Amino acid sequence: MKDAQPNTIYLKDYIAPAYNIIKTDLTFDLYEDYADVTSRLTIEKATAGSDAPLVLDGQDLELLSLKIEGKAVVEGNYSITDEQLTIRHVPNIFVLECVTRIKPQDNTSLEGLYKSKKMFCTQCEAEGFRKITYYLDRPDVMSEFQTTVKADKVRYPVLLSNGNKISEGSIDGGRHWVSWHDPHKKPCYLFALVAGDLVNIDETFITQSGRDVLLRIFVEEKDKAKCDHAMISLKKAMKWDEKVYGREYDLELFMIVAVDDFNMGAMENKGLNIFNSSCVLASPETTTDESFQSVEGIVAHEYFHNWSGNRVTCRDWFQLSLKEGFTVFRDAEFSADMGSRTVKRVEDVNLLRTHQFAEDAGPMAHPVQPSSFIEISNFYTLTVYEKGAEVVRMIHSLLGSELFRKGSDLYFDRHDGCAVTIDEFVQAMADVSGRDFTQFKRWYSQAGTPRLKIKGLYDAEAKTYRLDISQSCPPTPESEQKFPFHIPMAIGLVGKDGPLNCLLSDDKNPSVGDTFVLEITEAKQSFVFNDVMEAPVPSLFRNFSAPVKVTFDYSLEDLQRLVAKDSDGFCRWDASQQIAVRVIKDVMIALGNEPAPSVNEALLVAQRQLVLQAKDAAQGASEQDLQMLAYAMTLPSEEYLAETQSIVDIESTHHARVRVKRKLATLLYQDYLDIYKVLASPQPFKVDAASIAQRKLKNTVLSYLVSSGKQDAIDLCYKQFVTADNMTDELAALTEIVHSTSSAAKTIQADCLDEFYRKWESETLVINRWFGVQASDPNPGSLNRVKQLLEHEVFDASNPNKLRALVGGFCGRNIIGFHDRSGDGYEFLTEQILILDTKNPQIASRLLTPLTRWKKFDDQRQALMKKALERIQNETNLSKDVFEVVSKSL
Ligand code: TRP
Ligand code: ZN
Repeated sequence: MKDAQPNTIYLKDYIAPAYNIIKTDLTFDLYEDYADVTSRLTIEKATAGSDAPLVLDGQDLELLSLKIEGKAVVEGNYSITDEQLTIRHVPNIFVLECVTRIKPQDNTSLEGLYKSKKMFCTQCEAEGFRKITYYLDRPDVMSEFQTTVKADKVRYPVLLSNGNKISEGSIDGGRHWVSWHDPHKKPCYLFALVAGDLVNIDETFITQSGRDVLLRIFVEEKDKAKCDHAMISLKKAMKWDEKVYGREYDLELFMIVAVDDFNMGAMENKGLNIFNSSCVLASPETTTDESFQSVEGIVAHEYFHNWSGNRVTCRDWFQLSLKEGFTVFRDAEFSADMGSRTVKRVEDVNLLRTHQFAEDAGPMAHPVQPSSFIEISNFYTLTVYEKGAEVVRMIHSLLGSELFRKGSDLYFDRHDGCAVTIDEFVQAMADVSGRDFTQFKRWYSQAGTPRLKIKGLYDAEAKTYRLDISQSCPPTPESEQKFPFHIPMAIGLVGKDGPLNCLLSDDKNPSVGDTFVLEITEAKQSFVFNDVMEAPVPSLFRNFSAPVKVTFDYSLEDLQRLVAKDSDGFCRWDASQQIAVRVIKDVMIALGNEPAPSVNEALLVAQRQLVLQAKDAAQGASEQDLQMLAYAMTLPSEEYLAETQSIVDIESTHHARVRVKRKLATLLYQDYLDIYKVLASPQPFKVDAASIAQRKLKNTVLSYLVSSGKQDAIDLCYKQFVTADNMTDELAALTEIVHSTSSAAKTIQADCLDEFYRKWESETLVINRWFGVQASDPNPGSLNRVKQLLEHEVFDASNPNKLRALVGGFCGRNIIGFHDRSGDGYEFLTEQILILDTKNPQIASRLLTPLTRWKKFDDQRQALMKKALERIQNETNLSKDVFEVVSKSL
């Protein structure tokens, strides 16, 4: 570390800024080996007459000049450290003029102003603006921005910043300039600048009040044909936000720029969103269905931030979930409305249960509203985003859509143009509903995943069914002792032939259809249903109504009943997964036995049922959602299985899952093949929900076919690989071939990879998938392959997407490879982290995640992983990012 110990920042220490920045006027002079930034800030004391010094944030800046009201600030009146510029004795209101020199071309951290290939771009959230100029880099300082960008006309014909273009002109020496003005006050984390040689595609959107908005997507010339999907998504999102939230766009111009080097997915800068090119470009030949859908979701997410984040922003970074949790909830509902609601829900819950639950159980666990941090970049997490969205969803289900909308209207209205806290959001919801959210707010302040133990008791004589519920929450770093959560539980009772009609004894909670929403608030609580005519199976937490872990003593028959008869699509899927989890666990235990362990009939029965339904549906003989059937047929991932174990048994988990899958493949081979044949018949390519679902089911059964190891299946898969007219089918086939352990596949693996590479050599995003398939290959030898690929001519260690594909793919998505007993995987990651930390701390810190989970593994692995973490910790000059994660993990 630079300082012996970096500071921890606490929420409880928040104090309002001593100064406001009324106007921010910036001029950028961009050159190849430096950029000069002139800032003219109109600054006012929050309290006139106060003698608080002006303390501005600034990092890696060379100060060229500093003036107040046109006069140089004298030496003794200011001081500079690595992180701050302090000026003493300033007037109540004044113009501060400051010139700094920065080196965008050497900025490998990708925060502040940097170069992505030949283009200049910025990333300021959370605290990147301080790498551009001295400023009050905190979200509660909101200012009106004007920006002039000057650069070489040939290299950088396009010069962009937030708001509206107000003027432009030429400068001698082949340079030119453009000035932008953003009429909306904003915090500096929403500032953006782009300079490059870009082309644009344009559309117009007419808002509900009749104003024209110019929509403009900027990309490199070669990507011009890949913007349509993002543009259509943007228009859908704008329409949806008007209809569902009554929110209209508020400038005449909305721009999106695609850049290749980007630390995250995308950024909601006011009027000028900047996107990782992987989150905006899409074409059927190069983009999978999943990516098409994620582009739609991310375009919407960033657009929705215009209100939830920009117009109403965060007071401080502890409030991050105020904008992210709410915006993720908004984009999830948007995607649900655009496609299949249940499919979207299952995908989101699967992500949450697999990865957020793991985060909540690990050393970096933190509340949705953290109470302290060392480096805020480490808190752009699944907890803040996804769990935060679940908390908003619970408010939505407690209030119902209508009241929720009233609450959001009140929130936007009350706080427009302000920087507020999560409390204000909840207060608006409380005010419109008259509800008390005091206990509910523990979801924001307590980390950890609540556990519910539920017992059901049927009284055949009284025709009552009683649920006894107890809740608890394991300790997490911020607190040992947890108070009970306020948990909405949507529930229904399922009889032999389907949902049962019944009553809740205290009818405070009327049912909607066959679903009741019970509110659990106590550590121990019971509910009684009346008029229950037969012994029911409870369908608990329908639609995953709360982010909790449930234990209920279901028999396999109970779960089969839910798979077959439950009216809730989410619970049907969940029951299918719970059957598989149990059956796989049984196989794990018996794995060493002779003869080889059998696979419980219950799974075969359930899978056969699904297969028959899928066959009907594929032939159009039923309306069942093909994608839901595919998800129900898919075995839980190794990652999810690992999350359900207290100490993960890496090898057994992998081998048991493989064995169960192969068993199903062998027994149901003909059925899978029948489905495959129906779905593989050629049809014109479309990316609507129905076609996506067909491909999903087709590739799900293909995966089973291949795991049979039969030559015929490999042939079929190879045929799909060479004839596919879209990336979904092509990549699915390639992955199956490469990841297969069968000898039939082995003979063609290398050729397929070569073929794919040659075909897509010029498509960076596709080549990233090629890296990813190899990195996540569970077959032996993948680490060596990954090491070779690091040296590949198109690998670029300064590009986050490539690092995520190769290093992230191996360490995060190749459990059996990364956790190899030798510890070679751990050593590999350690070395990568140490190299990367000096260049891009945000990415280094993120890639470190798998090592932080060391307590989940056996003693031998624990020791190796701990040693790896200690080696990182002992390094001098660690970034704050990596320091925080390593020190909290050990
Ligand atoms: N606010 C962005 C979003 O959620 C994400 C973001 C935060 C980000 N910090 C970033 C993106 C740094 C890129 C780099 O939409
Ligand atoms: Zn966001």
